Amino acid sequence: MLHNKRILLIVAGGIAAVKVPDLIRRLRERGASVRCILTKGGAQFVTPLSLAALSGQHVYQDLFSLTDESEMGHIRLSREADIILVAPATADMIAKMSHGIADDLATTALLATDKPVMIAPSMNVMMWTHPAVQVNLETLKARGVSVFGPGAGDLACGEVGDGRMAEVMDLVSALGRHFQKQRGDGALARFRIVVTSGPTIEPIDPVRYIANRSSGKQGHAIAAALADMGAQVTLVSGPTQEADPDGITVVKVETAAQMLKAVRAALPCDIAVCAAAVADWHVADVSKIKLKKSTAPPRINLAPNPDILATLAQPGKQRPSLVIGFAAETSDVIEKAKIKRAEKNCDWIVANDVSPGSGTFGSENNTVHVITAEGVQNWPTMTKREVAEKLADLVATFAAKKL
Ligand code: C5P
Repeated sequence: MLHNKRILLIVAGGIAAVKVPDLIRRLRERGASVRCILTKGGAQFVTPLSLAALSGQHVYQDLFSLTDESEMGHIRLSREADIILVAPATADMIAKMSHGIADDLATTALLATDKPVMIAPSMNVMMWTHPAVQVNLETLKARGVSVFGPGAGDLACGEVGDGRMAEVMDLVSALGRHFQKQRGDGALARFRIVVTSGPTIEPIDPVRYIANRSSGKQGHAIAAALADMGAQVTLVSGPTQEADPDGITVVKVETAAQMLKAVRAALPCDIAVCAAAVADWHVADVSKIKLKKSTAPPRINLAPNPDILATLAQPGKQRPSLVIGFAAETSDVIEKAKIKRAEKNCDWIVANDVSPGSGTFGSENNTVHVITAEGVQNWPTMTKREVAEKLADLVATFAAKKL
């Protein structure tokens, strides 16, 4: 649910700020990117350096900092996120939010945003139950702010009661639920979908292999977008740096033969999306020992790999109702993709230009053309995540009509 989601995390000044490093770690493990705004009070409990190290991004602190503003204006900061999470949300922060006070970077970003806001309050029990706080909370709720927690228990001040910030994993789940709900309320809930992603690697000997430049970003984003719409997704992936998306069965493979086996094991399914860059050949005679540097370089004999997409798309009892392939081309993209669609008997082809100037491999962006029986849709350049979401929407529309 959290794969590729952008979270703007506002850290206010409460003792629960010490849980924030763990929260960032857990969110990033699930593929989310986290950008932090640290208030003056927050900086009393956690250092900007630790948040920067864990989030892998600059930590923004000051509304009037030339560096921060030139790097990222506060308006952009507030908009370039899918959600803003205030954790911990102190009584002071809640009051400022409810009254529209904008006297620092955090409160200004909160006022300037057009994105959903979730808060995780944390404070002493008497403060929490104080009518002033409760009225402010009601105001925020009425404006659509989601309030998560607090829980009951021992408080840092020594008192016992409501006021503990929600546990890190509960916050992670709450964010996941938020994104699931946002994405079409389970439009694909009945469907089993297999997605292939990443490259395959083909060994030459125990230490060397043949690989390709696929990053797995697009395939993983598609798997995540489909799962966000409630689909039961099995992601069969070659080696990538991408985090396993949440709520998905991930099967990790290396070679094309292993990928085909894993895909077959995941059948039957309703829909298959083959986004992997499968190697066309494997080494026919993989050496069991490391090849030695000799005077003559070794001859590598290649043999063709099975075509997973074409195998899946063959007519037969186990053919998924919708088979989607990809076509990475460096010239005549649409024409070649149309031929590929016919040759491989798949229903849709998502074609993209991967010529050296296109910057597609490994980048965040992609420009694709979707070729179906009805014709060609030319999509503008978008992030791979946006392509994934648009494709998931198209799949959901198809599924609603035809499956
Ligand atoms: O033939 P080409 O490699 O250009 O086709 C690309 C499409 O076929 C992609 O969807 C890719 O995942 C799939 N493919 C496959 N197995 C192969 C080669 C390609 O599934 N061995």
